Amino acid sequence: MADFVGAVDQGTTSTRFMIFDHGGNEVARYQLEHEQILPRAGWVEHNPVEIWERTRAVIETTLNHAGLTHADLAALGITNQRETTVVWDKVTGRPYYNAIVWQDTRTDRIAAALERDGRGDVIRRKAGLPPATYFSAGKIQWILENVDGVRRAAEEGRALFGTTDTWLLWNLTGGVDGGVHVTDPTNASRTMLMDLETLDWDDELLSFFGIPRRMLPEIQPSANPALYGVTRRGGPLGGEVPLAGVLGDQQAATVGQVCFAPGEAKNTYGTGNFLLLNTGHEAVRSRSGLLTTVCYRFGDDKPVYALEGSIAVTGSAVQWLRDQLGIISSAPQVEILARQVEDNGGVYFVPAFSGLFAPYWRSDARGVIVGLSRYNTAAHIARATLESICYQTRDVVEAMRQDSGVDIDVLRVDGGVTANELCMQLQSDILGVPVSRPVVAETTALGAAYAAGLAVGFWRSTDELRQNWNEDRRWTPTWSAERREEEYARWKKAVTRTFDWVDI
Ligand code: G3P
Repeated sequence: MADFVGAVDQGTTSTRFMIFDHGGNEVARYQLEHEQILPRAGWVEHNPVEIWERTRAVIETTLNHAGLTHADLAALGITNQRETTVVWDKVTGRPYYNAIVWQDTRTDRIAAALERDGRGDVIRRKAGLPPATYFSAGKIQWILENVDGVRRAAEEGRALFGTTDTWLLWNLTGGVDGGVHVTDPTNASRTMLMDLETLDWDDELLSFFGIPRRMLPEIQPSANPALYGVTRRGGPLGGEVPLAGVLGDQQAATVGQVCFAPGEAKNTYGTGNFLLLNTGHEAVRSRSGLLTTVCYRFGDDKPVYALEGSIAVTGSAVQWLRDQLGIISSAPQVEILARQVEDNGGVYFVPAFSGLFAPYWRSDARGVIVGLSRYNTAAHIARATLESICYQTRDVVEAMRQDSGVDIDVLRVDGGVTANELCMQLQSDILGVPVSRPVVAETTALGAAYAAGLAVGFWRSTDELRQNWNEDRRWTPTWSAERREEEYARWKKAVTRTFDWVDI
């Protein structure tokens, strides 16, 4: 068998290709950004053709740099930004419209209407999600209603829907010349259209959005021994490689962090934060504002579920300090500035830029900075920004405790912001539990590689994968319990100040 496994990580801001060896070590990588198209306030789009071109380029460049070919890859996995919606014509291969990105809020009226007439409760029960602009179904409905000819093409079976995993799989396996139209349950569970118990599209949910079933991909296991397909000879790999693993990016990071047992959790710090807690074979329903989602399904095994706390704005709040306020000139500088002060000086920053996601789900919220006095400096704002990342995580951890009764005893972290040592120390202080970062920080691509490698027997079991996980750094709490609770109470008060700001 070939010595390596490859993984495409199609993210919100960039696409990367990575190659791993049997020990889960990175062998090669290359990444390219794509354009963030912002046509109006609240609208966020990507060009699917650009995403496919970037994917081709990163695969070709990585293989060239590493001196490897398709024959060196035992399998290929795909992981992707979830929810982002592409609708394309299977005859021409062209998208009907730009991809509507998960952060896009144009469907707020569609979401609010679902909540008003009781359909929201059906969605919660069947799909495990609160009706929100975040998920794919409203975005598909918007395209069907606003782009000429798409509804008819969808009814005729010519218009296809996919999240970006599906779009890339279709292109990698031949596109208009017989590309496969498939996805996995983790991605399907983010649409508001899949029943969590049957792992199939649900006709009642489809009817809420007027979506013809024919436009939806077939749902196959995340680690797929039967294979989604093989890459075609004329594609970027230059030959046939089994496409054997697909996971939404946050679920992939959970697998990359080897959270295979119920009670194990990881928190990924990117533009937003996504905390997933493995709940085993039980789809635990949230009463506290979390999502119930599929964590993974390996082959014919029963699916494993997770509770998820999705936070929209964390790392992007640091970008806001850089790009809009101009108080830092690069993201890492936030740590230097925040270290100039001992504490937040009474300042709390709730970055509810596009409403609040978990556990609040308030699209009427907008950001606030409260507690200001003349004494405060830019350093306090920087510190409050880092604390906001950690407090939003605590909100989600509290909700998880209420829903599952599980206390997280150590929080496994990954993602760009985990390079910020002060932020990780604050996270441990604010949660009151240790925070642990692994050696391989690229857990998202690694998780997709693991799914693909498990499917083809490159790795034999999840126990074997556990051997690959090693801790790089651990932070332990230094605050007294009294300080922790006092400051958290101030944060909760600050959150209430964001509510009722926008009329929907
Ligand atoms: O649900 C959205 C999430 O999948 C996006 O992740 O890392 O591409 O920003 P990321």
